Amino acid sequence: MTETFQLTREQAQVYDDLFVPALFGQWAPQLVDCARVHHGQSVLDVACGTGVVARAARDVVGHGGRVVGVDLNPAMLEVAQGARPDLEWVHGDAEDLPFENAEFDVALCQSALFFFADPGRAVAEMARVVVPGGVVALQTYAPLAEQPAYGPFVELVAGHAGPEARVLLGTYWSQGAVDGLIGLAAAAGLSLLESRSSLGVAVFPSAAAVAQTEIQATPLAEQIRPETYERIVAGTEELFGEYADESGLVRLPIRATLLAARRG
Ligand SMILES: C[S@@+](CC[C@H](N)C(=O)[O-])C[C@H]1O[C@@H](n2cnc3c(N)ncnc32)[C@H](O)[C@@H]1O
Repeated sequence: MTETFQLTREQAQVYDDLFVPALFGQWAPQLVDCARVHHGQSVLDVACGTGVVARAARDVVGHGGRVVGVDLNPAMLEVAQGARPDLEWVHGDAEDLPFENAEFDVALCQSALFFFADPGRAVAEMARVVVPGGVVALQTYAPLAEQPAYGPFVELVAGHAGPEARVLLGTYWSQGAVDGLIGLAAAAGLSLLESRSSLGVAVFPSAAAVAQTEIQATPLAEQIRPETYERIVAGTEELFGEYADESGLVRLPIRATLLAARRG
């Protein structure tokens, strides 16, 4: 969906208008809750996008607290700033956070760990910028084997487009194994507070839109022939028939993994 950092302002606005309500918005209050954010705290939202987690954090910390979002993509930050000029939006890399040691009480990261070249380094950076006793919390998606809809979908695409499709469509599911996340947290000197598995929903206007969204976001779009793409769309319509309502809207179950850990 947002694998590229070269998003235009229009694409970032589409992200906020369509993808946040259809998928990303639902996890934000869960992540804030998992991190035990409370009134008056200072909270950093890493890879904030248009800022849905930062907004949820502000609802809890109130005006006595501080909320900062940081992202690599200037267009995402522009949309975030336009929507919520009352929060702080900073351009920066999750793997080299532009903040002092121990500047925040809590650092959160939602739906982005799998984009980082070195996720362990990003978690270590989050640990660095929270105070001793502070909390780092991550949200990502469970591995494909635990995804009731996306697992069969990726197998369908691989059946038509070849096994490399599993890799090309694999980004979102690559950092969701709980043991792996616990390992990243431990390597950053954090001790586990809680991990959660949360079944949510991804809403699409149609089954064909699922195929289009998922394939267009990857290099697979340029690699497959039009007739292969058509077969994938037809297969997706059959596969996801059970998830469509009368209007054609498709609601796919999608499993997220959330983890909170404390700096010693
Ligand atoms: C799927 S979006 C999630 C955005 C937001 N956390 C949300 O839940 O809506 C992924 C975000 O990660 C950002 N991103 C990717 N790599 C990054 C990096 N190394 N440092 C900071 N942000 C990064 C992208 O610019 C994008 O805004």
